[in-house]
Amino acid sequence: MKVVLAYSGGLDTSAILVLLRKKYGAEVITVTVDVGQEEELKGVEEKAYKLGAVKHYTVDAKKEFVEEHVFKAIKANALYEGMYPLGTALARPLIAKKVAEIAVKEGADAVAHGCTSKGNDQIRFDVTLKAYLKPDIKILAPVRELRLTRSESIKILTENGYEVPSSHKKYSIDENMWSRSIEGGILDDPFAEPPEDAFEWTVTPEKASDEPLYMVIEFDRGVPIRVNGEKMDSVAMITYLNKVVGAHGFGRIDLIESRVVGLKSREVYEAPAALTLIEAHQDLERMVLTPKELRFKRLIDEMWSDMVYQGLWVDPMREHLDLVVDSMNRYVSGEVRLKVYKG
Ligand code: ARG
Repeated sequence: MKVVLAYSGGLDTSAILVLLRKKYGAEVITVTVDVGQEEELKGVEEKAYKLGAVKHYTVDAKKEFVEEHVFKAIKANALYEGMYPLGTALARPLIAKKVAEIAVKEGADAVAHGCTSKGNDQIRFDVTLKAYLKPDIKILAPVRELRLTRSESIKILTENGYEVPSSHKKYSIDENMWSRSIEGGILDDPFAEPPEDAFEWTVTPEKASDEPLYMVIEFDRGVPIRVNGEKMDSVAMITYLNKVVGAHGFGRIDLIESRVVGLKSREVYEAPAALTLIEAHQDLERMVLTPKELRFKRLIDEMWSDMVYQGLWVDPMREHLDLVVDSMNRYVSGEVRLKVYKG
């Protein structure tokens, strides 16, 4: 059996890689899609081979992620339940598409992902994989099917002689350019303040610089093109904004989120560039759209965010909404001036 595994290099997908080989005797091809998860990418190929992959692909999808997914999200002011900029939700369909394409090319019997039965990501993966795979390629979700817990994953790895980095034990992290999500551990208690060690992209506002940061962001039909008058590459712009805005203590999110499966969950995020660009874009819309347009667009924006959150990126309805969103962004061009000060 030949299995193409969507591989992040994290705890669960690493355990699955071992499991698929040892328990099912599968030949495993790993695929890691680079959507800007900088830290997690380090050593991922080496790790895949160490764990027994027969072949590994790292696909650089950063530009496609920003230009085909993130820019649409900016135009739709996409914040799920008014707060979450959808980083994970925007990236999953792209990852699934790349994995499916490789599975078809490799003539795989199955595709595997590491999602649990509790999250939204299983839905996003399953829906998108079904849209791009051939019907005879099966979808395996070993963590869900075997009800694998994190401690069992740790056990599988240590028993097979692999070390587990200590950072894997504390939180479950999902990171890409648009947002960094931190789940689990103490964060599962919604009464507890997130500890400082949960954050990597932002400083606490108390410790941010006493000097405010002033910035001018220029949009062309809803898409950011310049920062402080300087034309910037799309990927470089997001990376830059995460860094400078995060250093001023802006970009932390702490919310009780309504998951697709019906659970409420406490979610903590860092998304300095996303929150900055969406706020700037929304302010520019307030300047140029008529009151009727603004009210209608609020409904469309919310529907767009809900659909993307629910894993319906491939639903043709999302494309229809994008046409409306693009049309309403026709005049959303100009400069927005921002001040970032201690969060
Ligand atoms: N709650 C977010 C979403 O559904 C993020 C999930 C990220 N996963 C993780 N293992 N931290 O989009």
